[in-house]
Amino acid sequence: MKRTIKDLVNLKGKVVLLRVDFNVPMDDGGKILDATRIKNELPTIKYLIEQKARVVILSHLGRPDGYDVRKSLWPVSLYLSKSLPCNVSFCNTVIGDEVKERVKILREGDVLLLENVRFYKQEEACDMKFAREIASYGDIFVDDAFGVAHRKHATNYALARFLPNAIGFLMEKEVSHLTEIIENPKRPFVAVLGGAKIDSKIKILEKFIEKADTLIIGGAMAYTFLKAKGIEVGASLVQDDCLDTANNIMAKAKELGKKILLPVDHICMRGKNPKVYIATRMSVNMTGYDIGPRTIKLYADEIANAKEIFWNGPMGMFENSLFRNGTRAIAEAIASSKAHTSVGGGDTVATVNLFNLAKKINYISTGGGATLKFLEEGSLPAVEVIQEKIR
Ligand code: 3PG
Repeated sequence: MKRTIKDLVNLKGKVVLLRVDFNVPMDDGGKILDATRIKNELPTIKYLIEQKARVVILSHLGRPDGYDVRKSLWPVSLYLSKSLPCNVSFCNTVIGDEVKERVKILREGDVLLLENVRFYKQEEACDMKFAREIASYGDIFVDDAFGVAHRKHATNYALARFLPNAIGFLMEKEVSHLTEIIENPKRPFVAVLGGAKIDSKIKILEKFIEKADTLIIGGAMAYTFLKAKGIEVGASLVQDDCLDTANNIMAKAKELGKKILLPVDHICMRGKNPKVYIATRMSVNMTGYDIGPRTIKLYADEIANAKEIFWNGPMGMFENSLFRNGTRAIAEAIASSKAHTSVGGGDTVATVNLFNLAKKINYISTGGGATLKFLEEGSLPAVEVIQEKIR
């Protein structure tokens, strides 16, 4: 068990370096389009404020190549000012004399947000010198950045090596929830996996073959499975180099007595003709883009009988409204099921929000890659590096 902020005593007056994931969608004018990740971070910040710590917050935003005003965290500091019962100031650097001065004058129970750590190439390079310099500004390090905990970067992985440390409330919640799903799911446990590329999902497919009772497969990934079974998929997107992988996964499922559900009909286009068809059998000139009505019924019935559901990945090319119906229907089936439901992965969470179903899902993970990585491996590097709880 990792140390949590509750295990830290005498925080009064201490400079706490708090790493968070404020990687929120923002338009070029600095308008925050979805503040979910910031809202999820407030309990940890508020706790530190109540303890009268001097809170210095570090985060990344996007993947900038050097300084980029569109990726500044300044708009986030304005959001925090409105959401927290303390003074929130912003510093437009991460290292150097300016930061040192600002930390020196930071009062107990107040917050200082530093600029986007990814404006410095040392961040992603996990530069130890950079981390040591930042560590010298604080007394304690708290890592609450679950969304980036699968990466070994300077301000999460490296910083933990230089200061007494702990995880925050959000990291603790994510880790314990995802551990529970994988180690102690209610049965039957149905995993719904979609998306285009089977190679990026191999590990998670293998994990769920072991842990879940049924695997529902959608998205372009399904065509690779169908082709591996010898079923005609026309010109649909197939990863030919993964046909063996698909066969191995299906063989493993058979060996373990697990069920894999694949589409039985498709929403297709024929050649360049923009007309959309429902097809149970595809011909060579057809391309499938979404699951059809019989598949929706098949999947929804399975979902209705589940007690535990985890969903990641769209059922079709949902960016195009012509091919959104399958993903919407499955999202609605999950939202209205009586099972304990969890959703993970950046795009899938965005989909749930798009369909206004977030309130009907029991658990929405704030991580994208981190959530999948945690489910696959059961641990994340930036969590591993945190000190163990003293018993
Ligand atoms: C995310 O949005 O998944 C996290 O903030 C990590 O971002 P990254 O994939 O750019 O490292």
